[in-house]
Amino acid sequence: MTKPCRILVVFGTRPEAIKLFPVVHALKADPRFECVVCVSAQHRQMLDQVLEIAGIVPDHDLDVMQPDQTLDALTANLLTGLGKVMDAVQPDRVMVQGDTATAMSGALAAYYRKLPVDHVEAGLRSYNILHPWPEEVNRKIIGAMASLHFAPTETAQGALLKENVDPSRVHVTGNTVIDALHWVTAKIEREPHLAAGLATLEARFAGKRIVGVTSHRRENFGEGMEGIAAAIRQIAQRPDTAVIFPVHLNPNVRKVMNERLTGLDNVALIEPLDYPHFARLLAIAEIMLTDSGGVQEEAPALGKPVLVMRETTERPEGVAAGTAKLVGTDAARIVTEISILLDDTNSYESMARAHNPFGDGHASRRIVELLAHEIG
Ligand code: UD1
Ligand code: UDP
Repeated sequence: MTKPCRILVVFGTRPEAIKLFPVVHALKADPRFECVVCVSAQHRQMLDQVLEIAGIVPDHDLDVMQPDQTLDALTANLLTGLGKVMDAVQPDRVMVQGDTATAMSGALAAYYRKLPVDHVEAGLRSYNILHPWPEEVNRKIIGAMASLHFAPTETAQGALLKENVDPSRVHVTGNTVIDALHWVTAKIEREPHLAAGLATLEARFAGKRIVGVTSHRRENFGEGMEGIAAAIRQIAQRPDTAVIFPVHLNPNVRKVMNERLTGLDNVALIEPLDYPHFARLLAIAEIMLTDSGGVQEEAPALGKPVLVMRETTERPEGVAAGTAKLVGTDAARIVTEISILLDDTNSYESMARAHNPFGDGHASRRIVELLAHEIG
């Protein structure tokens, strides 16, 4: 029997873990591959929440996270740490996902060893290097080195082809986040207790319309975060509405939100939710207000209008379909857009179409088959 292809899967943050666990599951189930998992732990607690629910025990854990880490120190630690793991593991290929510092450093360390890099969620572009910052440049750097580009949509494929990437190296697979969402939804159906932890909040806000909020983008730190907090304060004055906001562990987010939003009757500032509980929040929310990438993909798939607190998006598919809207971080604009959705049924219904341009839940299977074809 031929030796299986040893593939080192590298990730470090919550969204990478969510989007790669279905691929790790698929690789581990396939005898053509030996899947070795290396986590950088660029995130610690928020990564561990995903590893636990997905049942993944990493083979290597760099544990790099420092409180309020800087991009340069983080990147330096990632590059040297991931290089050492690659030297020890001697993989045939390296897989990264998306656009984080971990993904960029993993691709670079692999390239320095002339290892082929497989890029999951390739080809997203906002065409603005400061929005999102630094992710737009991270993913372009990865794109310059990747061997196989797994584009989630035809739009992403088109962006890579415009950059003269060899078309035979680009494959449209769907986004693995939809695989993850299907997986967790099925798991909750089998084990409802996994998502039952919001019951107290649900009782507290019974009869109210729930707005789910997440926020963490670096380019929104400072003025942007202040605008978001001011908007939530105003929304919370409506007696018919409640805000549930699992606050990202980044201290630049927590400080502002804790100072501005603690103690309001209609606002629940809570700790980051594990994935089943976040899926539950998506289910009970009428509207999602977010600057997250992943939530922009999940909310439309569940028929939840998503207001995106950014100036540009590398995920234009939801906006084009009318299920997502860019609203920036100006408080007055956010409040206006939320009020329109809450007060005008027609506006709400026109956005609340379950529309899923991001995949059919079989992206991981496609990725594994394309890899198998690649290794012959
Ligand atoms: C990172 C990614 C961003 C991604 C986001 C997902 C980069 C440059 N940024 O941003 O692309 O969208 O993750 O959430 O790669 N922290 C904890 N515990 C955790 C996680 C974070 O305490 O589990 C705190 C730490 O103080 C840490 C800080 O948050 O230093 C920032 O984490 P970092 O990964 O550098 O940036 P994010 O803003 O989370
Ligand atoms: N998410 C979660 N718990 C939370 C908030 C978000 O599990 O409290 C999930 C969400 O479902 C999505 C992902 O985390 O899949 C998005 O991560 P994040 O917003 O941190 O990063 P981004 O997608 O912007 O890179």
